[in-house]
Amino acid sequence: FPGKITLGGKEYQKDNWFNVPDSIANSLTRELHNTPDHPISITRSIVESKFPSPTFKHYNKFFPVVSTHENFDSLGFPADHPGRSKTDTYYVNEKTVLRTHTSAHELAIFGANESVGYTCSADVYRRDAIDKTHYPIFHQMEGARMWDRRKAPGGNIVQAVWDDISNLPTHDMIVEDPNPPTHPERNPLQHGHSHDEAEAIAAHLKRSLELMVVEIFSRAKTAAIAADPNYHDEPLKVRWIEAYFPWTSPSWELEIFWQGDWLEVLGCGVVKQELLENAGVPSQLGWAFGIGLERIAMLLFEIPDIRLFWSQDARFLDQFKGVSSDLTSLKRYVPFSKYPACYKDVAFWLQPSSSSTTSAAGGLAPVQSFHENDVMEIVREIGGDVVEDVRKTDEFTHPKTGRKSLCYRINYRSLERTLTNEEANEFHEQVRAALARRLGVVLR
Ligand code: PHE
Repeated sequence: FPGKITLGGKEYQKDNWFNVPDSIANSLTRELHNTPDHPISITRSIVESKFPSPTFKHYNKFFPVVSTHENFDSLGFPADHPGRSKTDTYYVNEKTVLRTHTSAHELAIFGANESVGYTCSADVYRRDAIDKTHYPIFHQMEGARMWDRRKAPGGNIVQAVWDDISNLPTHDMIVEDPNPPTHPERNPLQHGHSHDEAEAIAAHLKRSLELMVVEIFSRAKTAAIAADPNYHDEPLKVRWIEAYFPWTSPSWELEIFWQGDWLEVLGCGVVKQELLENAGVPSQLGWAFGIGLERIAMLLFEIPDIRLFWSQDARFLDQFKGVSSDLTSLKRYVPFSKYPACYKDVAFWLQPSSSSTTSAAGGLAPVQSFHENDVMEIVREIGGDVVEDVRKTDEFTHPKTGRKSLCYRINYRSLERTLTNEEANEFHEQVRAALARRLGVVLR
């Protein structure tokens, strides 16, 4: 792999960590979150409208290639965190990745200290499954709000935070929040924060994010009623769940009750002081959140398949014309057509591990290392957006030989036209050959 690679117009040195396929490298410049009238950019604007400037500065132009320090270390991810593995993250080289979340920019933004709050939207990259809600590039939006102890009487920000809360609007959404703001084991108060400070910051965080959810869903409801005057919805309900992120404590996730299911929509928490100290702003305290834009856009516009966001088909794009300049004109997406699906299965044996063919205990032989995301990527590289989903349909270990067999079902379906069986077969033959060649599995 040594050599150079150009990503988004910048040149990088590759090493044996490099694992960015061409299809990803070539999409770095799309910037859907900055494309006017694109549903991702419209969704960003709706979120931004609840975090107005100048209190919140809006950053939407950060470059996607970041250091492992920015993406992981600065945020306190342990060295062995699974998110760091090559199976989950795209590496340019050992110290450089495609950001896996917008939090990669927290250290720099806190350090720049250009405003008391900010939002930041960006494309983020993760190796993952293929289905209607997962795509290796997606978009996140992050926000934060800080208070400075140096500016508060007696170095105590509690009153300042509650004053800010009293200036926020109220809402009548149903909120379930069964846990106390901090819990010594599950959701601890940070060293150096008083209970009253954490409580006030948590209250400001929760109200701010609830108001954002109310905004999003009132827009979703208006669009739903425009599409169907008889539309009848249930009252909006959300709940706060205790969570864990290495750089916030206490932390939460917010779930929304939507069409019969609890849907996780965002992660957030009180920013760890260590991060703010490392950013050079030790007297500041505050909260941060991160939200996935695709998921919100899919429910706002009723977009059924995440691949549609990448479509250049006018039948998709033209439906959102004018919405960026007038958010009240937001309408639901009207599917232009649904083309037939074409399912193909591929089954293969994993090879016995090359290092040792029998385990010490004389039990089943260990098999080659294998990660499903490698299958996903090969399928994606060959089929591109013609693959709707890939599911494991069978897994079986031979009782005598200990060999393991896996079967995946690939659903080939274009969003834009009908695929012929010959075309699907051709993709599938290429996928089979690539699996055997690149993963060293034995086709069945
Ligand atoms: N970056 C987190 C994620 O990708 C979300 C988050 C952002 C959580 C900021 C806390 C604070 O899930």
